Amino acid sequence: MSIIGTDIAHAKNLLEKGELVSIPTETVYGLAANAFDENAVLKIFKAKNRPSFDPLIVHAASIEQIESFVIDIPELFYELAESFWPGPLTVLLPKKNIIPDLVTSGLSHVAVRIPNHPIALELLSSLSFPLAAPSANPFGYVSPTTARHVEDQLENKISYILDGGSCKVGLESTIISIDNNGVCIHRPGGVSIENLESKIGKTLKFADPNSKIQVPGTMQSHYSPRKKIILGEIDKLLESFSDRKIGILSFDKKYNCVDSKKQVILSDVGSLDEAARNLFSGLRYLDSLDIDLIISEYVPNVGIGLAVNDRLRRAAAK
Ligand code: TXA
Ligand code: MG
Repeated sequence: MSIIGTDIAHAKNLLEKGELVSIPTETVYGLAANAFDENAVLKIFKAKNRPSFDPLIVHAASIEQIESFVIDIPELFYELAESFWPGPLTVLLPKKNIIPDLVTSGLSHVAVRIPNHPIALELLSSLSFPLAAPSANPFGYVSPTTARHVEDQLENKISYILDGGSCKVGLESTIISIDNNGVCIHRPGGVSIENLESKIGKTLKFADPNSKIQVPGTMQSHYSPRKKIILGEIDKLLESFSDRKIGILSFDKKYNCVDSKKQVILSDVGSLDEAARNLFSGLRYLDSLDIDLIISEYVPNVGIGLAVNDRLRRAAAK
């Protein structure tokens, strides 16, 4: 029997009992549990095979709900929330004790966001607690952007997958922290840095590796298909690996020397938003083929292209 469905009341019931439910968001599917219930949160780490040092993002229905579990909220937080929520922006804020240390891997800050998906928002509004949810994939693998992707890998480990269609953004949220020096980027994602900069009126910096606030999950190798990925100029790579069975993940071009079934064009019209939306399903598709390796290229490094390139770089790192 399929565990995929659209029954929000059923999902609510399971979550209230401390079970895991996969939920759709605009970025990727999440693997959710009651963020206030340590035993429920522990099940997430087990199902994903996720190391306990890698903390979870907490998803909330409203700013009022977030105010109930964080402290020392800077004024800028409210301005950013107003502009970007619900949406693909995650903010690190000092937590209250009601958030179990397991959720933050013992760190002082909790990562929070209000997702922009009607089903997720309806579910969150119906609950009396927020939801801790990492992406619903086994640790280190490509994130899921459809309910089927979740089922393919976690079917036996979760109670229910709430189907909300394919994710409109297609890659994870942008993670930021706010301190006296302003906003710092910890992970590029669905909200572009340019958008944040134009709201804040300042150039933003990426977190320095020695900064006080760290995002433990941004490892070199992540988002990885099982097949090897090599990044570079596709024409040159085709020559170098002419003796191998190759799949291509290109930004906007088709290559006539390779079977079209072994090619994924992220956006034939050259749209970075479309490329982001297609990236993870493209990687999964190529990973399922009878090929030796995937060759790919960076997309233009502007807007959401920065996040696409970040995921490509990590997917290729071994
Ligand atoms: O779009 C998204 O952010 C998706 C959807 C489901 O909301 N979630 C997601 O979760 O990408 P995950 O667990 O795959 O990635 C969360 C990242 C990890 O790198 C983790 O280390 C970092 O956020 N993180 C979470 N809580 C943190 C905290 N308290 N302090 C520092 N980093 C944190
Ligand atoms: Mg993830």
